[in-house]
Amino acid sequence: MATAALALVGAAPATADHTPATHDSFTIVGHRGASGYRPEHTLASYELAARMGADYIEPDLVITKDGVLVARHEPEIGGTTDVANHPEFASRKTTKSLDGVQVTGWFTEDFTLAELKTLRAKERIPDIRQRNTIYDGRYQVPTFQEVVDLSKRLSRELRREIGIYPETKHPTYFRKQGLALEPRLVDVLNRNGLNRPNAKVFVQSFEVSNLIDLHRKLRVPLVQLTSATGAPFDFVDSGDPRTYADIVSAAGLREVAKYAKGLGPEKSQIIPRDAAGFLTTPTPLVTNAHRAGLKVHPYTFRAENQFLPADFRSSTVPSAYGDLFAEIAAFRAVGVDGLFTDNPDIAVAQEQLAAA
Ligand code: G3P
Ligand code: CA
Repeated sequence: MATAALALVGAAPATADHTPATHDSFTIVGHRGASGYRPEHTLASYELAARMGADYIEPDLVITKDGVLVARHEPEIGGTTDVANHPEFASRKTTKSLDGVQVTGWFTEDFTLAELKTLRAKERIPDIRQRNTIYDGRYQVPTFQEVVDLSKRLSRELRREIGIYPETKHPTYFRKQGLALEPRLVDVLNRNGLNRPNAKVFVQSFEVSNLIDLHRKLRVPLVQLTSATGAPFDFVDSGDPRTYADIVSAAGLREVAKYAKGLGPEKSQIIPRDAAGFLTTPTPLVTNAHRAGLKVHPYTFRAENQFLPADFRSSTVPSAYGDLFAEIAAFRAVGVDGLFTDNPDIAVAQEQLAAA
């Protein structure tokens, strides 16, 4: 199936056994899998990312009513599954406060794993990724354990280690409901022999306190995610006035380095855009992070014009592809150590062409 898929999306650079080269010096993370080509956070999306040459696959982790970690970008699943077409779950539709924002829909913590497994995934942005909708209704919501199992199977088959890069989503929100993500994450990593310093695992979070706590419990490297605006919700919740801008200051990065090995900034924190959407002068963030001893893995690199800086758009059509090669090159020129991308094949090809 993956071979046919590669033919459809354009063949990934590969050796004779279809195993792309590894990227020890530059980290390519398949963001939500290869979500440019498959509905995000499905085993099909992760598998394609690995086959395209991603070093890591990235599950965002939320949790079910019965305490099982599953891969979804958000607790709300109306946008990424067919739950709205299941009349037996109509009464579960509700409105909740999610990190201070009112959200209406269906939430993973209101479903048992068995119930969640009756749903099927669908493309989150069908207007931009119409082609991906041909896969709607075909794949389940995977558990974190299933993602780990997939990484192990593909590591054996491709004869290179496929890393995992899990993110704890909305940790404070889940902890307040008695469904803390962290103990389950530690448990899965322990049970799979992955809680060790040389495991190919990064653990990431937009919150701070859960990473500091995980630093005491995990032996794998941690990555502090940051947004271009706002503040970590655990800070907001506890009345801590610090913001993401404080975290990415030189002093803030030295604090991050006490519990994390990497920083995952929104890419505009590295190269801002002007009002017209063109790239401007890079900030000192990469330099300051490196001085603090942190790797830098920005997010999210995507091929469609909608997501590209104006410099690299091919037209005014949001869903059309622009020049992701050029955007990646611009960020590599300022020294990033890796990146999250929905199009791992393009990041792999960019690396190979740059090295040629
Ligand atoms: O985790 C890196 C990146 O995925 C952060 O953004 O919202 O896609 O999880 P998000
Ligand atoms: Ca993520």
